[in-house]
Amino acid sequence: MRILVTGGAGFLGSHLCDRLIGDGHEVVCLDNLFTGRKENVAHLLAHPRFEFVRHDVVDPFKVEVDQIYNLACPASPPHYQYNPIKTVKTSVMGAINCLGLAKRVKARVLQASTSEVYGDPQVHPQPESYWGHVNPVGRRSCYDEGKRCAETLFFDYHRENRVDIRVARIFNTYGPRMLPNDGRVVSNFIVQALQGEPLTVYGDGSQTRSFCYVDDLIEGLVRLMAQTEIVGPVNLGNPDEFSMQRLAELTLKLTGGKSKIVHRPLPADDPKQRQPDITRARKHLKWKPKVGLEAGLERTIAYFRKRG
Ligand SMILES: NC(=O)c1ccc[n+]([C@@H]2O[C@H](COP(=O)([O-])OP(=O)(O)OC[C@H]3O[C@@H](n4cnc5c(N)ncnc54)[C@H](O)[C@@H]3O)[C@@H](O)[C@H]2O)c1
Repeated sequence: MRILVTGGAGFLGSHLCDRLIGDGHEVVCLDNLFTGRKENVAHLLAHPRFEFVRHDVVDPFKVEVDQIYNLACPASPPHYQYNPIKTVKTSVMGAINCLGLAKRVKARVLQASTSEVYGDPQVHPQPESYWGHVNPVGRRSCYDEGKRCAETLFFDYHRENRVDIRVARIFNTYGPRMLPNDGRVVSNFIVQALQGEPLTVYGDGSQTRSFCYVDDLIEGLVRLMAQTEIVGPVNLGNPDEFSMQRLAELTLKLTGGKSKIVHRPLPADDPKQRQPDITRARKHLKWKPKVGLEAGLERTIAYFRKRG
């Protein structure tokens, strides 16, 4: 198949490109390189079935493909808050452009949505049927509401125009090729530990997150795209919960670092707890994460150590 991956030079996108090339597909990787890096796909550039296109999803694009994975969107708070209006445009116009293309060329199109659509959830863990608890006017809203509107567009194109959609709600994912110091907790802790700097824990560190290793997540996306039972939304993430304090301690143990753990005030709208209910993914995709936090952290630490 010919497959378009928007945001294909980013963290998740580049792993997805690797996987799709490995599965024998032709891949068109479209990215404006805002948070993505050519280095992430450098090893693919000479591959005969791989093509890199520098383009912004806010502007329409034409390409003959069988499938589209729409991953283009900055995902970490400092990046999506850098230009919040552009973030909304990327989510909303990007979705419209992908859906318009999918409609024209009759491609199946998958949206990389997010657990942020649940906001600061009052239901725990979050099933897909939960509508969320989202602040529409806060600093995180450009991302959360942009992604919610993109989901709306996906379902409206599906209902109105019979576009063959899939919607994945991705929970915190980590692994090699995350950007250092981009405000995501796993890469922050690893980089701080490797540099011998104090590990910054916000609040008292009791807030929990669940972390999914990138290979597991990519497997979930590919399975969601391949099956025809459901269009989604489908939660993809690892339900194992860890407190930030525990994650900091584990990172120190695995890096052999001697840094201190320091506490800072919690940022606004920071969810206290976030955990996917993956019943739907288990049932329809026969999917569950396989890589435990310790094994995944070791691989991620090895990557950051090598990058220096
Ligand atoms: N990593 C996670 O934990 C996570 C969780 C939930 C959802 N997601 C979603 O998955 C997708 C990929 O996230 P990621 O973690 O790989 O982040 P990332 O920032 O590494 O990747 C996003 C990619 O999109 C590109 N991009 C941004 N704006 C663009 C635009 N206007 N036009 C073209 N390309 C553009 C960036 O350059 C980058 O390569 C995002 O849509 C994100 O919202 C990720």
